[in-house]
Amino acid sequence: MRLSNKIALVTGAAGGMGRATALTFAREGAGGVIIADIEDADGAAVVDEITAAGGAAYYVHLDVADEASWHAAITATLERFGRLDILVNNAGISGTFDPDRTSTAFFERLMAVNTRGAFLGIKHGTEAMKRTGGGSIVNLSSISAHIGQAEVHLGYSASKGAVKSMTTAAAVHYAGDGIRVNAVAPGMLPAMRTSRGSADPVWRAQQIDGVPLKREGKAQEVADVVLFLASDESSYVTGTEIMVDGGLTAV
Ligand SMILES: NC(=O)c1ccc[n+]([C@@H]2O[C@H](COP(=O)([O-])OP(=O)(O)OC[C@H]3O[C@@H](n4cnc5c(N)ncnc54)[C@H](O)[C@@H]3O)[C@@H](O)[C@H]2O)c1
Repeated sequence: MRLSNKIALVTGAAGGMGRATALTFAREGAGGVIIADIEDADGAAVVDEITAAGGAAYYVHLDVADEASWHAAITATLERFGRLDILVNNAGISGTFDPDRTSTAFFERLMAVNTRGAFLGIKHGTEAMKRTGGGSIVNLSSISAHIGQAEVHLGYSASKGAVKSMTTAAAVHYAGDGIRVNAVAPGMLPAMRTSRGSADPVWRAQQIDGVPLKREGKAQEVADVVLFLASDESSYVTGTEIMVDGGLTAV
């Protein structure tokens, strides 16, 4: 068991890669997995899945863009499980949800959820982790922090570039507290709940054609890398970003 007795909070865990990560953590012996999302019914279903398999999980409604919501989620975690060892800042919205690539309101929404959400997670997650001597934070960035994609709003690229930069900075800020901070950058994974343009099969086929491994990634393939960074196996790894993109950014 690679996460024996560790307590982990995964944002955006009601579906996609967050759900795969939460299920993986539970299988690896986590003492508690907090499923945090705004999609309450789907989040509760993930809790049921983990519980049915003999694991311990708990759902909290968390809007990552809202600081009061973070206070409540971390308080609930500490009340229920007494500590926080792992935080995965996975919640996010797609850069193609609004087809208007010049929308200022959408720029601000992308920054609020994807960047402020990760910032607030780091802020409140580290406060909790310091109480028990440290932990591991894994942020979900993206290939969009590295390459331009014509269909994707500039705000998405900016939001994920900021996540990547905050990962590096936070690793330095919190190393003395025993907290490691790393990022995982997925490439062409199954479309997000909020994907519109990037869910188009023609666009996806074109993008996947440019992937050296010539296929879409699987949520589990991202979850496995998150697991490595969350676990003590990566004890000398901090401030880095691992691309999980089938080689897309290596071309
Ligand atoms: N799917 C991809 O191709 C891809 C590629 C690169 C990076 N990413 C990033 O990986 C992460 C996971 O993506 P996914 O594909 O699993 O997407 P997804 O849409 O399946 O899952 C994202 C989850 O975040 C939740 N969420 C959205 N806004 C929220 C908010 N304000 N507060 C709390 N939860 C909120 C959603 O309800 C959803 O359950 C995201 O940060 C995304 O930007 C995805």
